[in-house]
Amino acid sequence: MTRGSRIQRLIQNLTRNIDPNMTFIQTKTLNLAESVRADFPILHREVHGKPLVYLDNAATSQKPHAVIHALEHYYSHYNANVHRGVHTLSAEATDAYEGAREKIAKFVNAASSQEIIYTRNATEAINLVAYSWGLSNLQRGDEVILSVMEHHSNLIPWQLVAQKTGARLKFVQLTPEEEFDFGHYQSLVNDKTKLVSIVHISNTLGCINPVKEITALAHQYGAKVLIDACQSAPHLPIDVQDLDCDWLVASGHKMCAPTGIGFLYGKLNLMRSMPPFLGGGEMIADVFLENATYADLPHKFEAGTPAIAEAIGLGAAIDYLTNIGMDKIHAYEAELTTYLMDKLTKLPQVRIYGPKAPKERAALAAFTCGEVHPHDLSTMLDQAGIAIRAGHHCTQPLHRFIKAQSTARASLHFYNTRGEIDTFIASLQESIEFFDSIFS
Ligand code: ALA
Repeated sequence: MTRGSRIQRLIQNLTRNIDPNMTFIQTKTLNLAESVRADFPILHREVHGKPLVYLDNAATSQKPHAVIHALEHYYSHYNANVHRGVHTLSAEATDAYEGAREKIAKFVNAASSQEIIYTRNATEAINLVAYSWGLSNLQRGDEVILSVMEHHSNLIPWQLVAQKTGARLKFVQLTPEEEFDFGHYQSLVNDKTKLVSIVHISNTLGCINPVKEITALAHQYGAKVLIDACQSAPHLPIDVQDLDCDWLVASGHKMCAPTGIGFLYGKLNLMRSMPPFLGGGEMIADVFLENATYADLPHKFEAGTPAIAEAIGLGAAIDYLTNIGMDKIHAYEAELTTYLMDKLTKLPQVRIYGPKAPKERAALAAFTCGEVHPHDLSTMLDQAGIAIRAGHHCTQPLHRFIKAQSTARASLHFYNTRGEIDTFIASLQESIEFFDSIFS
C-alpha cells in the first residue's frame, strides 16, 4: 500500500470513529459544558466534514454570543470615541468602556479600577512594565528572576531591558517532576533581586506555580513581583489583593473576549510612580510645546484612541465568565483534566511534559509520541476535525530544557466535553499506529 493510500485509509477510519451522538451522550453527566455549548456558535461548525473538536484553548478561546453581540451592538448603536465628546454616543461609549474596566477590577479583586490599564494583550502589558518601571529602576548589579518555563513575552522584554540597564537575569529551574523548583528559587532570591516575573500556569507544562508564596518571598527582599496570568485568569479565580503581587497581566482573547485587548493590573502607588510608556493624546493633563503634565491613572498609560469595542467585548466576556462562576469553571476543568490525563497516560507511546498528577495541573497537556513529528500529528488530527497546537508554543528555551524540539498540545476550556476527549484520544491512537506502520 502506498503512503498516499495509507493516509486515505487512516482518514476514512478517523471519520468512522466519530459518533455524532457521542458528545451529547457524554456531556449528560457533565452539566457545565452541556449548558454552555449553545452559547458558542463556532462549536457547531464542521471541519473536513466532522464536528469541530476545539482543543487549542491555550492559544485562544472561542467567543460566546454575548461577546459577539456586544461588539455588534457597539458598532451598530453607539460607535464613538471615548472621553472626548459630550454628545450622547460618546457618553454611552465612555460609560461602556469604563464600565468594562470596573468589571475587570472586580474580576481580579483590585482595590480600584484605576489599577487596571487596558493594553493590546499580556505581551504589551509586560512591555509597559519593562520599559516604564524596568528602564527607570534597574541598574547594573540588580537581578531579575524569571523561570525557564516563561513564555517569550516574559523573557524578551526583560532581555531588552537587561541589555540597556546592565541588570542580570537569573532563571529558576525545574524539579525532576518538571515543575517550578521552589528550592532553587529560594537559593536565587537575595538583596540584589529587584524583580521576580513568573508565569502563573505554564502554557506548556500545565503546572500551577505557587505565585502567592513566590510573591511573599520576593517581598521579604524588597523585590517587585509580576505575575503572567494568561493561562490562569481564564480558568480559575484570581485575587490580586490576596496574592499581593505588584503587577498581573492577562490577554482577553484567551478568556472568551476579542483579540487586541488585554490588561495590566498594578498597585496604585507603584503605578503612579512609574513614567508613561507611550505618549500621545488621552494620557495628558496639560500640554505645552516643550513639555507636558500627565493624566492620573489609568489614563496616563493609555495613549491614543483605545480598542473601545474590544474593551467592551472583554467586559461582556467577564460578565459571561462571572455568571457561570470561576470556581465552577475551575472545578469542572479539574474533572476534565483528570479524564484527559487518565486517557493520555494510558497510551504507551505518549510522553507528557509537566507534572503527571492531574490535581497539580491545569487543563492542558503538551506531549510527544516517539518519532512522530507534532506537526504531522496535528495535521492528521485536523482531518478528523480536531484542533490541537503543535510547535514550541512560544517557550523555545523550555523546549530546549525538556529536550523536545516541539510538542503537540491539547488544551481545554469549560465548553469541552468528555466525548470530545474520547474522540481526540481515539484519533490520536490511530494516528500513532499509522505513523508507527510507516516507520516500522
Ligand atoms: N501563547 C499562546 C499559546 O500558548 C499563543 O499557544
